[in-house]
Amino acid sequence: MALWRWKRCDVYCVDIDAAKIDLLRRGEVPIYEPGLAEQIARNVDRMHFATTPDEAIRRARLLFVSVGTPPTFAGDADLSAVHAVVDAMPASSEHALVMKSTVPCGTGRAIARSFAEQGKGALAYVSCPEFLKEGSALDDFSHPDRVVVGDDGDGWAGDAVAALYAPLGAPLIRTDVASAEMIKLAANAFLATKISFINEIANVCEETGANVLEVARGVGLDQRIGPKFLSAGLGYGGSCFTKDVSALKLLAANSGYHFQLLGRGHRGQRVAEAPCGGKLARHLGSLAGRRIGVLGLAFKPNTDDMRGASSLVLAARLESEGAHVCAYDPIAIEEARRIMPELDYATARSRSSPRRRRRAGHEWPEFLALDWGAVAEAMAGTVVIDGRNALDSVAIRAAGLTYDGIGIG
Ligand code: UGA
Repeated sequence: MALWRWKRCDVYCVDIDAAKIDLLRRGEVPIYEPGLAEQIARNVDRMHFATTPDEAIRRARLLFVSVGTPPTFAGDADLSAVHAVVDAMPASSEHALVMKSTVPCGTGRAIARSFAEQGKGALAYVSCPEFLKEGSALDDFSHPDRVVVGDDGDGWAGDAVAALYAPLGAPLIRTDVASAEMIKLAANAFLATKISFINEIANVCEETGANVLEVARGVGLDQRIGPKFLSAGLGYGGSCFTKDVSALKLLAANSGYHFQLLGRGHRGQRVAEAPCGGKLARHLGSLAGRRIGVLGLAFKPNTDDMRGASSLVLAARLESEGAHVCAYDPIAIEEARRIMPELDYATARSRSSPRRRRRAGHEWPEFLALDWGAVAEAMAGTVVIDGRNALDSVAIRAAGLTYDGIGIG
């Protein structure tokens, strides 16, 4: 829960995890996000960290909620952390709860009802969904495509949130709470659908001899479609798309509507590893006893977040077929080792030991800049599967290696 003091913008950051708060007080950041540690260091005199909300409630009016809403087994969002924060809110007409966490449409209305039941009816409620991406969070936050502020009253809180964001100069959408909640879910579901679509096109490209990179370029220049989120790969990962697609599907179903488009055709990380494993098997035959290098373990570059990472399913599949996986990531090895202790891990310095590896990888700058001549010399095998279509296929082939991307027929 982050709580901002209005106008002077001191920030009161509250988390129930004492270890996290201790780290932050010492100037350390518990996650990897480029530029974040430096940003906190620059503003440390205006940031206050605590495990209880008392001081924040005393000093701030806008109480931002940014807790996790992970998926439940049923596929909808687990709102228990949201409810814990809601219960800690004061009965005050001087405060507003500003919801940053992604919540199903209808949550704001339910919270407003529970405020009324708890005698906290004067507390204002604003939905202000966040659209930043991991790995580019600071830049996305500072340069948003739009700021969405949803409130159902004509009180001060919506105006205060809009004023807080005004210096960013982004287009502002003032709307009601339910629409703000739905904008967030619909945006994520649409982006996930766009990726799923290009992944399906990639599959057809492989069968028909077309090149999905060329296809995406040609399609993306249509201004009605746009070039972003048209990179085919192993399927989208991360904690957000899979969760939000599933939450939206369930939300629709619970309202009596079957959202067919978000059905089985959606190519999230769980179903999309098949191309990579299948390609390796096509090139190598049986994978039993093979040593496969996997470059890039987190769900995308510039993060150590392993939630929903393709590498989890890919590595499990390769190992189950008898291969030995040697995994590497510039940042996420520690987290990956915690989740997949059975794998071998390379470190940057142990590049002397990549012998006998085939490779499958994703788009970290350090992978894009690999010296493929040196790699070819160090490898016993010759196959490079590019699960992100990001590597230099010409340099790889020039080094005598076999290059295979996704959707490159
Ligand atoms: C996503 C949205 O992009 C953000 O706008 C949103 O705020 C966030 O979820 C959230 O709801 O918190 P994020 O999951 O951090 O952001 O990362 P993305 O860059 O969207 O990537 C998600 C996955 O899609 C990654 O596995 C990425 O490799 C994959 N992807 C992305 C593709 O396969 N192809 C693409 O063209 C783009």
